[in-house]
Amino acid sequence: MTRGPELRGEMVRLRPIEARDADRLWESLHDPEGMRLTGTTATFTREQIDEWARTVSDRPGRYDWAVTSGGVREGKFVSDELLGEIVLNQIDEDARSANLRLQMLPDYRGRGYGREAIEHVLRFAFEGADEDPGPRLHRVSLDVLSINPRARALYASLGFREEGRLREVYRDGNSWADAILMSVLEDEYRAA
Ligand SMILES: CC(C)(COP(=O)(O)OP(=O)(O)OC[C@H]1O[C@@H](n2cnc3c(N)ncnc32)[C@H](O)[C@@H]1OP(=O)(O)O)[C@@H](O)C(=O)NCCC(=O)NCCS
Repeated sequence: MTRGPELRGEMVRLRPIEARDADRLWESLHDPEGMRLTGTTATFTREQIDEWARTVSDRPGRYDWAVTSGGVREGKFVSDELLGEIVLNQIDEDARSANLRLQMLPDYRGRGYGREAIEHVLRFAFEGADEDPGPRLHRVSLDVLSINPRARALYASLGFREEGRLREVYRDGNSWADAILMSVLEDEYRAA
């Protein structure tokens, strides 16, 4: 399993992450709100990010897409710049399960891009795309921190159900946050 297909929507176009995305990925690692809300504490060097951007789309067991604008002018996409990233990782081909993760850059939040990106990735995950049968998953899960009501509400509105929580598993400044586990199953996705 390597490089995922391009997934086109009205507002967004998802394409595999490429070496040229390293600048934007580096930028997202220096976004304090994004780091806090995703619970990211690991640090990376610029060289590691360059290597990651160059190779990640060909790594097995995962699909990494750049969320770019779906806008078209005179038959061409208006921009190919990464506005965010969305990832299906930890793909277990036997259990047909995977984890979902996404992060939009600060200027591109709250515009509906995240919602549309998840819709396209779930469709690909459960049903495949025109030219790619996809992983035919049975379950897509994620975890979201209790300090992130926007992401939690968004996931719930897309059919993810809460399964439980890891209490005070994340240190948030002088206090703690829970990790809420959520998932959507194949049948629930089709029924929605
Ligand atoms: C979470 C994130 C990916 C969502 O993407 P987005 O493009 O900003 O989200 P959208 O604009 O598509 O939708 C956000 C929804 O949340 C709602 N929302 C916004 N703030 C909210 C809040 N404080 N509480 C509840 N809902 C909220 C919006 O009304 C919208 O709902 P709607 O589609 O029904 O109108 C993005 O905000 C982000 O990258 N945040 C920082 C990193 C992060 O939190 N990643 C997820 C980690 S689990």
